[in-house]
Amino acid sequence: MLLPSPWRADFPAIAALQRQGQTYLDNAATTQKPQALLDALNHYYVNGAANVHRAQHLPGANATQAFEDSRSKVARWLNAMDGSQIVFTHGATSALNLLAYGLEHRFQPGDEIVISALEHHANLLPWQQLAQRRGAKLVILPLDLRGLIDIEVAAELIGPRTRLLAVSQLSNVLGAWQPLPALLSMAKAQGALTVVDGAQGAVHGRHDMKALGCDFYVFSSHKLYGPDGVGVLYGRDEALAQLRHWQFGGEMVLATDYQSATFRPAPLGFEAGTPPVAGVIGLGATLDYLSGLDHHAVLAHEAALHRLLLEGLNSRQGVRVLGDPQVALASFVVDGVHSADLAHLLTEQGIAVRAGHHCAMPLINSLGLTGAIRASLSLYNDSDDLQRFFAALDQAVELLQ
Ligand SMILES: Cc1ncc(COP(=O)(O)O)c(C=O)c1O
Repeated sequence: MLLPSPWRADFPAIAALQRQGQTYLDNAATTQKPQALLDALNHYYVNGAANVHRAQHLPGANATQAFEDSRSKVARWLNAMDGSQIVFTHGATSALNLLAYGLEHRFQPGDEIVISALEHHANLLPWQQLAQRRGAKLVILPLDLRGLIDIEVAAELIGPRTRLLAVSQLSNVLGAWQPLPALLSMAKAQGALTVVDGAQGAVHGRHDMKALGCDFYVFSSHKLYGPDGVGVLYGRDEALAQLRHWQFGGEMVLATDYQSATFRPAPLGFEAGTPPVAGVIGLGATLDYLSGLDHHAVLAHEAALHRLLLEGLNSRQGVRVLGDPQVALASFVVDGVHSADLAHLLTEQGIAVRAGHHCAMPLINSLGLTGAIRASLSLYNDSDDLQRFFAALDQAVELLQ
């Protein structure tokens, strides 16, 4: 095989999917899980589940220890100062909603919230709705021809009224790294808060929060080979201190009587109720697994697969790749073929790719499309997966054209 994956066997679901006749190329939606994660979940549940931060008994102490160890592992993964900068949420979406509600008090009518034209609905709708609640203006940064946020136009649009900039690090449709350093420094020069949606970016590279210098960074565990139901919100100390409490309930409170209460600071003050204990412990185990891999070898493998994917798409007549994808994925349309029909025929042949607007409806509409097909890669994919994908694509297109 041209490009085998040395890590494929670590993911038992890949072999199971293959037995079901499935080739999984929808990794930007969610990823399969390493055995190390399955072992950690099994260990936790087999040895005794318990709630965290509240029980004095041994199972509670063990669960709390493992849960807090995961927080430290996430902090190390992101090169944050320490675990106090890591809030566990239920996903990237809930982290972004936490921010849009937690920062609401900082917005006045006429203030500007700046996002970009390529944002996933998770990094559009919370800000759009916040703008509506506060009479603020949502400013949309346009893209250049390569699908990158246009920094020359951004320099004009990010101004003294900008209170917050929220942008994706890596587009889930266009697969392009966005010019974050330039954008973040423009926003910071205006005293605006900065939010980075790392839902895709966190999966394809290690990112150093101290070097990046954003106020907040969010990602979802399930896209990074971890369990679902867990998200991460990183925040600089000063930024976290600006958040108002949003969800209320157990463990986030310091003291309460019937009429009033005082609340914990971050992180626990933003983790109301029982958190996803097993999921957080599982994320820690996943990060241990990923930390043990040769990071450069993983990136090189993904890059080689991506080149094969692009070469294959670009060499086929009538196939149009959206933007100029740099990593991980490619979205495309085929002349004269409806994406939904194509997706249907790919599905029938056991090819698991995503079709539709990819939760970025305004972007897809602005490209004059109603949908596109997206093939997205991960470290366990190999060149045989791509071969099966292209064979199925050719057959489907021949039938449809
Ligand atoms: C760029 C981007 N942001 C945010 C999200 C939302 O992630 P989740 O659904 O895990 O909350 C996604 C998921 O596809 C995404 O691709």
